[in-house]
Amino acid sequence: MTTLSLTINGQKHGPMDVRDDLSMNDFLREMLGMTGTKFGCGAAQCLSCAIIVDEPDGSSYTSPTCIAPAVNFDGKSIRTVEGHAKEGQLSALQQAFINHFAFQCGYCTSGFLNEGQVLLERLAHTPVAREALEQTIADALDGHLCRCTGYIKYHEAVRDVILADASRYLVASK
Ligand code: FES
Ligand code: FES
Repeated sequence: MTTLSLTINGQKHGPMDVRDDLSMNDFLREMLGMTGTKFGCGAAQCLSCAIIVDEPDGSSYTSPTCIAPAVNFDGKSIRTVEGHAKEGQLSALQQAFINHFAFQCGYCTSGFLNEGQVLLERLAHTPVAREALEQTIADALDGHLCRCTGYIKYHEAVRDVILADASRYLVASK
């Protein structure tokens, strides 16, 4: 057993004792009942289980949870799909996913949502040129698998959010 403390969606959890071999996915879903994070391939191939990890320097990245031990997240600050809506209001990206009918079964959605949110925050810090946007979105979402093949609609939804606030996410054109 190892003692685990972490912050999830701004709330502190722990310290609590967890088995060393407990996956982060089982920790979230089975111990905390946070079932928005899905379990797909179980082999770090589909990213349906991806969460956001926030670094102390303000940067963020996504991490699969299916093969990662929960104890690897000790002391970290993470975000899950349950943390995106604020006071009952969907985030801009969540609303765009709905507007575009981006998901069908929804199994991959929390992973795409977390990845898209990390991209938005990265672009807010380091904008790209409009000409580079399509490839930037494609690169960011690459690796997330959707068996209902919603790839284009997810891409379009992320693009819509960016273009709706272009001065924030894109380098001003000359
Ligand atoms: S369930 Fe984790 S990458 Fe597929
Ligand atoms: S919406 Fe079904 S797997 Fe993507």
